[in-house]
Amino acid sequence: MDLTVFVLLSVCSHQFVTETTQPQIICSSEPVQAVYSEHVLLQCYLTPPLNAASETVKWTRGNDVVILCQNGKYNPGAQREHFEPRTALSLEALTKGNLSLMLSSLKLTDTGRYKCSLITENLEKSCYVNLTVGESDVIGSDEPVKANVGEDVILPCHLEPPFNVSTLTVEWKRNKTYVHVYRSMKHDPNQQNTHFINRTYLFCDEIGKGNISLLLRNVSKDDEGLYICYVPKLHSQVRKGKITLEVDAEKHDTKQFNGSSK
Ligand SMILES: *[C@@H]1O[C@H](CO)[C@@H](O)[C@H](O)[C@H]1NC(C)=O
Ligand SMILES: *[C@@H]1O[C@H](CO)[C@@H](O)[C@H](O)[C@H]1NC(C)=O
Ligand SMILES: *[C@@H]1O[C@H](CO)[C@@H](O)[C@H](O)[C@H]1NC(C)=O
Ligand SMILES: *[C@@H]1O[C@H](CO)[C@@H](O)[C@H](O)[C@H]1NC(C)=O
Ligand SMILES: *[C@@H]1O[C@H](CO)[C@@H](O)[C@H](O)[C@H]1NC(C)=O
Ligand SMILES: *[C@@H]1O[C@H](CO)[C@@H](O)[C@H](O)[C@H]1NC(C)=O
Ligand SMILES: *[C@@H]1O[C@H](CO)[C@@H](O)[C@H](O)[C@H]1NC(C)=O
Ligand SMILES: *[C@@H]1O[C@H](CO)[C@@H](O)[C@H](O)[C@H]1NC(C)=O
Repeated sequence: MDLTVFVLLSVCSHQFVTETTQPQIICSSEPVQAVYSEHVLLQCYLTPPLNAASETVKWTRGNDVVILCQNGKYNPGAQREHFEPRTALSLEALTKGNLSLMLSSLKLTDTGRYKCSLITENLEKSCYVNLTVGESDVIGSDEPVKANVGEDVILPCHLEPPFNVSTLTVEWKRNKTYVHVYRSMKHDPNQQNTHFINRTYLFCDEIGKGNISLLLRNVSKDDEGLYICYVPKLHSQVRKGKITLEVDAEKHDTKQFNGSSK
């Protein structure tokens, strides 16, 4: 009995020692999507957060060195020209085990699989982050969308190729007034035209897939017109999608008339 307890204890303390000397390296598990010409932070951390400033920290993509930092100093000679003036590590962050890479003035050719590595005298640890730099078009609808008074309607709009816009601003407008604004990951009601208050929704589960279709509740004849969906941060040729809404008053009126006739 006593012997068993002793063995368990020693196993536990052995693991503890291994964990403190061998940090885990963790990259963001989600692929990162970023917009052309903007900047992005590729996340990479040590846990527990050991000081990495006196070690070698290296980011690579394929065979290309993106950035190399040794003993708290950049080694620019090793760096591939493509990335040269556009990368940064924070030396202060390195002391807290934060090896995240800042990549700025993004190019479409920055798309790829990035490897974050910590190299010390007796260990090498690494993890990967996928980055996509996008330039999608915003697509509305060539066909007008038709609805009857009192119905809910979906105004279709999406990004082609699909692009995760959840961290970007999305604006829906009609005739220069705001129908719906999505900003900082949520609906921003400040600029919304009073006519549309409490009647507009985006589909949360779809935004990550680049689907920014708008649900408009309880439509009336006053809702008719040309709608624009717009993602200001994009740099593509087509940043605005157009959708025409036509509202038919007939059906509802007829129904009401029939219902009340006797
Ligand atoms: C990691 O460091 C970067 C700077 O390189 C900083 O922007 C980011 O906020 C840091 N992350 C955390 C969790 O401190
Ligand atoms: C990253 O991209 C590579 C191919 O470039 C793929 O094999 C891998 O599954 C991707 N990882 C994630 C987390 O998307
Ligand atoms: C747009 O708004 C202006 C004034 O705000 C108005 O004169 C015009 O008729 C409107 N156009 C449409 C198509 O609703
Ligand atoms: C919108 O909904 C909120 C919460 O349900 C309510 O307090 C507010 O009065 C509504 N505004 C309008 C203009 O209907
Ligand atoms: C879109 O990006 C957000 C924020 O980075 C992330 O939380 C979400 O999982 C992504 N969605 C998809 C479908 O990739
Ligand atoms: C966008 O989402 C809406 C609501 O779920 C759906 O009706 C529509 O088909 C989706 N559009 C695309 C292009 O996936
Ligand atoms: C729908 O809108 C009309 C005005 O256009 C309003 O009178 C009615 O109460 C609304 N119905 C609902 C369920 O909000
Ligand atoms: C309502 O009445 C019109 C004729 O007045 C008829 O054509 C139509 O089919 C009726 N609709 C219903 C739902 O009964």
